[in-house]
Amino acid sequence: MNNRGKVFTIVLIFCLIFGYIVENRNNNEEVKQRTDVKVGVLQLLSHPALDSIYKGFEDEMKNQGYEVGKNLKLDLQNAQGDQSNLATMSEKLVSEKNDVIVAITTPSALSLSNVTKDIPIIMGGVTYPVEAGLIKSEEKPGTNVTGVSDRTPLDQQLSLMKDILPNMKKLGIIYTSSEDNSMKQAEQAKELAESLGLEVVVKTISNTNDIQQVTEVLASSVDAIYVPIDNTVASAMSTVVKITDSYKVPVFPSADTMVKDGGVLAIGVDQYNIGVETAKVVVDILKGQEAANKSIVFANEGIIYLNEEKAKELNIIIPEHIKNKAQVIN
Ligand code: TRP
Repeated sequence: MNNRGKVFTIVLIFCLIFGYIVENRNNNEEVKQRTDVKVGVLQLLSHPALDSIYKGFEDEMKNQGYEVGKNLKLDLQNAQGDQSNLATMSEKLVSEKNDVIVAITTPSALSLSNVTKDIPIIMGGVTYPVEAGLIKSEEKPGTNVTGVSDRTPLDQQLSLMKDILPNMKKLGIIYTSSEDNSMKQAEQAKELAESLGLEVVVKTISNTNDIQQVTEVLASSVDAIYVPIDNTVASAMSTVVKITDSYKVPVFPSADTMVKDGGVLAIGVDQYNIGVETAKVVVDILKGQEAANKSIVFANEGIIYLNEEKAKELNIIIPEHIKNKAQVIN
């Protein structure tokens, strides 16, 4: 063989080896893509906000290449607001060896973290994960829990309420005593409202059965009502608003969906976007990141949501500077 022949042969062998490596790599990637990932979801109950979070989550998983029926097994468990359902469903999701479990709401995350300290739990909309005892710090969770918080800027919300209702003297707050997330927010709101010179009346409910009576008591004695990001109240907004409307008392809630359901105004978080952000965290974890080292994401864009029709109905004039910044949802 002459020199040219040798060079040619060597190049040919190189090409064959290179081709083999590349081909094998592709095959491996295909195998990886084809392998099903198992994701469980534990949702506390159905109300418009939580359903939006789930929808955003499912859509973004698809955007990221994880699709049900192709490479994703998705097991959604809805506890219908029942604590014992939460416990059984947590056991089920853990024993079925999901790769990751998404917890929509604080009670779901708490229930899951009682059952597993290994499988990553990704929070979809938990307001105070440190205070709830789920993680050690928001920068570095240090546990198998991480994800998205839906905390809203309470100080801004209260000062907006003051701007809108300059004559407001008495503020009511209603929340569910078993929801840590709302208790914390209610405490903070009370403190802030008092520092603005308001008299504050706080009332708690145990479940939706109490809503009618407690709202009635509040609505008959206050100028406005603030509702934290409370799951039970969110699921019964129509009952709340029916009563408050009859007293012409405005409700200031904490989520876009609750404004849509008859609240007047909130600085809140786009619930669908919480779901989108949650899916991004899930994908990072599936790709090998550690929950313990992954800091909490804040889905808080500080958007002002305004129900203009409701404001009109209650004869409330929204100052121009607020209206200009607000996103109107009726
Ligand atoms: N933040 C709530 C929790 O920690 C769950 C939640 C998310 C929620 N979005 C909401 C509650 C909207 C009421 C309204 O449990």
